[in-house]
Amino acid sequence: MSIQNILETMEYGVAPEDDSQARKWLAKHEGGFGHFIDGAMTKPGDLFEVRDPASDTVLARVTQGSASDVDAAVAAARKAQSGWAKLSGHQRATHLYALARHIQQHSRLLAVLETLDSGKPIRESRDIDIPLVARHFYHHAGWAEILEDELPGHSAQGVCGQIIPWNFPLLMLSWKVAPALAAGNTVVLKPAEYTPLTALAFAEIAQECGIPKGVINIVTGDGETGAAIVGHEGIDKLAFTGSTDVGRILRERTAGSGKALTLELGGKSPFVVFEDADLDAAVEGVVDAIWFNQGQVCCAGSRILVAEAVAERFETLLRARMKTLRTGDPMDKSTDIGAIVHPSQLARIRDLVEKGASEGATLTQGSAPQGCFFPPTLVTDVEPASVLATEEIFGPVVTLTTFRTPSDAVALANNTRYGLAASIWSENVNLCLDIAGQVKAGIVWINSTNIFDAGAGFGGYRESGFGREGGREGMRAYLRNPAAATGKGKGTTPAELETGPADTIKGGEIDRTAKLYVGGKQARPDSGYSYQVKGGKAVVGLAGLGNRKDIRNAVEAAHKAKGWGKATGHNRAQVLYYIGENLSARGAEFAARLESFGASRKAAEAEVETAVERCFWYAAQADKFDGAVHATKSEFVTLAMNEPIGVMGLVAPTAQPLLGAISLVLPAIAMGNRVVLVPSQTHPLAATDLYQVLDTSDVPGGVVNIVTGPRDELAKTLAAHDGVDAMWYFGNAEGSQMVEAQSAGNLKQTWVEADDARDWGARAGQGRLFLDRATQVKNIWVPYGA
Ligand code: NAI
Repeated sequence: MSIQNILETMEYGVAPEDDSQARKWLAKHEGGFGHFIDGAMTKPGDLFEVRDPASDTVLARVTQGSASDVDAAVAAARKAQSGWAKLSGHQRATHLYALARHIQQHSRLLAVLETLDSGKPIRESRDIDIPLVARHFYHHAGWAEILEDELPGHSAQGVCGQIIPWNFPLLMLSWKVAPALAAGNTVVLKPAEYTPLTALAFAEIAQECGIPKGVINIVTGDGETGAAIVGHEGIDKLAFTGSTDVGRILRERTAGSGKALTLELGGKSPFVVFEDADLDAAVEGVVDAIWFNQGQVCCAGSRILVAEAVAERFETLLRARMKTLRTGDPMDKSTDIGAIVHPSQLARIRDLVEKGASEGATLTQGSAPQGCFFPPTLVTDVEPASVLATEEIFGPVVTLTTFRTPSDAVALANNTRYGLAASIWSENVNLCLDIAGQVKAGIVWINSTNIFDAGAGFGGYRESGFGREGGREGMRAYLRNPAAATGKGKGTTPAELETGPADTIKGGEIDRTAKLYVGGKQARPDSGYSYQVKGGKAVVGLAGLGNRKDIRNAVEAAHKAKGWGKATGHNRAQVLYYIGENLSARGAEFAARLESFGASRKAAEAEVETAVERCFWYAAQADKFDGAVHATKSEFVTLAMNEPIGVMGLVAPTAQPLLGAISLVLPAIAMGNRVVLVPSQTHPLAATDLYQVLDTSDVPGGVVNIVTGPRDELAKTLAAHDGVDAMWYFGNAEGSQMVEAQSAGNLKQTWVEADDARDWGARAGQGRLFLDRATQVKNIWVPYGA
């Protein structure tokens, strides 16, 4: 096209990026790539092709990692770990700075390689991906430097297995490797099979920088190689980004293994446009939300919800803008939408879109060339249950639905099993922040979208996974908390229950059967049965034999009490102080109860006293365990809010039945959660005695629910319940395994431990760790000052 031609038509000419340096690099590795293990590249093994999706040509051949390759990588990482962790923070920081600098020096090679390998437009890899990679290493070099001061007493997890997807290959590597290394861990990372090339180039950069041998290991391969990492006994922590289906498999496979796990999974994020939004800006927002990286973005704004009053105008503007998007050669600097990563992903997008169309949805599409490309697509007339409204498409396809009122908008926004991100558009800051507080998402962008920074946490609610990457909250995921359990306890297995109708079993004459506590009222167990509670010498009472139905009722009651999450920290503190006062006033009674179970008077009194102190400690924290304002980009403040998780299932330790129960309930409710407590199976009466204390302390009905009975059966029902958002289980190894496996259904957060692995009477029984576990961080990006 001549310049005159361009001026006449106002069409762009082609502006291809020079790929000669990257081609030279690929030619150098013509014989195929091995893995990067123990500081060196291994010999190429069983090779598979890596293709450029835009031109459908072979770029390179890489090795399918075997179980023994993974073994070798884990062994190298293990050997290197203690030496790496023993370096001073400053020394580790120096290495991370070197990586950042070298990445910048090689940025052109890396950007071109990324584009060839993944099909993303060069403009994005050059201006977004690679600069963010360097930023991530710089930011975490800083964390290495100041770790001892900022997170005193914390230690590295050990060897980290890291599995990443193909949508942001090098960026996801940096999100995983940088914090892990800063914290003193060593890593075994597996890039996605479609896009391993920048990880291999990074391996060379690591060599060039003199990163100690074995600190970074990269094994290429497909899901089987990934599975070998997941199942490897030498891995202490796993971090995964990818599909929710595979995330669920990882949860199941690692259940009971003791491996720490963070999952960054899929999304179906709402993009909410209110009547008073700047519509032109919002249209540009859609371009960045769903047409960035061909829509292959976990936090893509893939569901536009627009106020009815402006829907028509908005749609007209959007259609016009869509027409101007250029889909084509990713290496052309004026391309907006590049190639889909792989023909199988293209087939998946086509399949879903066809299904949606057959369900009655209307498609409006831009243009796309032949090959592995998909045109930008706007879908209207979508029913809420349509496959296009519910499934993560991972392509340049966005649905548009209208709403009438802000509360409709919130209901629609939250009508998904995911909870990764949300984008909110309105010129009314009050409305934006009000909605930000109500959407269930880990990241909320106000009048903006898809903004990332190493200084802010990234990660989801609900089936979008758990754990955060980036910022202080991301660092914590790679560290062991100093108040962690000793790991010495084996966990308890309570004795078989002796059950029967209340008036027939022995002990019935001693005391009335303690009932369950559901929705602020005492409730008979559904079974109509009770079980014996044995003391030091004899039976001391009867407790209700709770079952699945009771758990379901308790979860329902907990859901109804959602107002608790909205109460101010001050109000919650008042209630907790009140619990402390009332418990203290009845201290003698509680101590006597504990004595009846066989505790010495001294031990019983000490347990009550610590329980009372704990009430005051968590009351004090209720309005102090707050979030942060992250220093991210100059035109934003990023508010990291600690939000309650929702409804929590708590399974209390067997010993110290009052203190154990209280130690779980208090942090959970102090942070605004509602709980279903399964108290010590052996001595539940210490917890059932709490009913009156709760009643007289203004705890709203449904905030604390207590179901007594067979610990592990009740725990199983709670763990499998989709209405439970988090599970804390303090029991034995089998129960821990069961709870983690059962929790895979809705990917609830779990905390499982042997119940005798920490001293509940000491500092280990209380602290910020408990509050961390009772909250999830929502990062809200608010435009500021620019
Ligand atoms: P995937 O979840 O299968 O792949 C992600 C990574 O996990 C890759 O490195 C893969 O080799 C590895 N992997 C696969 N199976 C594994 C297993 N059993 N054990 C351990 N590792 C395993 O994603 P895939 O198949 O590439 O894409 C399928 C769909 O997943 C996409 O259409 C998209 O909807 C979603 N997806 C979401 C991503 C996100 O960031 N949320 C990223 C990639 C895909």
